[in-house]
Amino acid sequence: MSDSAKKNAALAALALIEDGMALGLGTGSTTALLIEALGGKVAEGLRVTGVATSERTAKQARDLAIPLTTLDETPVLDLAIDGADAFDPDLNLVKGGGGALLREKIVASCAARFVVIADASKRVAKLGVFPLPVEVVPMAATPIARRIGALGAEARLRRDRFGEPFATDEGHWILDCAFGEITDPPALAQALQGIAGVVEHGLFIAMADEVIVGTEAGVERLARR
Ligand code: 5RP
Repeated sequence: MSDSAKKNAALAALALIEDGMALGLGTGSTTALLIEALGGKVAEGLRVTGVATSERTAKQARDLAIPLTTLDETPVLDLAIDGADAFDPDLNLVKGGGGALLREKIVASCAARFVVIADASKRVAKLGVFPLPVEVVPMAATPIARRIGALGAEARLRRDRFGEPFATDEGHWILDCAFGEITDPPALAQALQGIAGVVEHGLFIAMADEVIVGTEAGVERLARR
């Protein structure tokens, strides 16, 4: 999908940001476009603070002089904005393609409003086409993969460009789990939460208040019912 569709979604989200807001800043290429534009507004005098969902996002924000805070200092955020790998008609999401799902879920859960920005290619009838990222304690990766296998998915350890296990910002590993069509996302979320050593999974159930879908022509706004 082209950058202009992502940019349209990002700019529509930028318009939601008001002076004085405490923000959750997501991770990924769509959110990077938002942060770039936010940097321009901050340079013009907009006053915001942000909690970054990854080291990558924190670096971009620092480079643009966007003030950063922590959840210790600012435990309640006005608005979190983040991308997604897939969203369904109920606005349930799969996230974690960029490996930041743990911090992303924590930050979104601390926000009064959680808005997702995504291009139209992320829209699906059922979640599951994009493999579900599951963040795990490294020592438990193999038994967890076996248990996820029993739930019906092939779980592959994500690797970095050197062929080493991809380590998250929190030092965990990620299993990318090919479930195929996920018929009951809440039930799967519950099953994954019940596996010892699973730190977090990329199913964001009933968390998004709105998805702003970017297209070449503009945006479509979907609100959770
Ligand atoms: C990172 C994520 C991203 O939000 C997701 O991968 C979408 O990224 P992009 O905007 O590049 O398509 O969940 O962990």
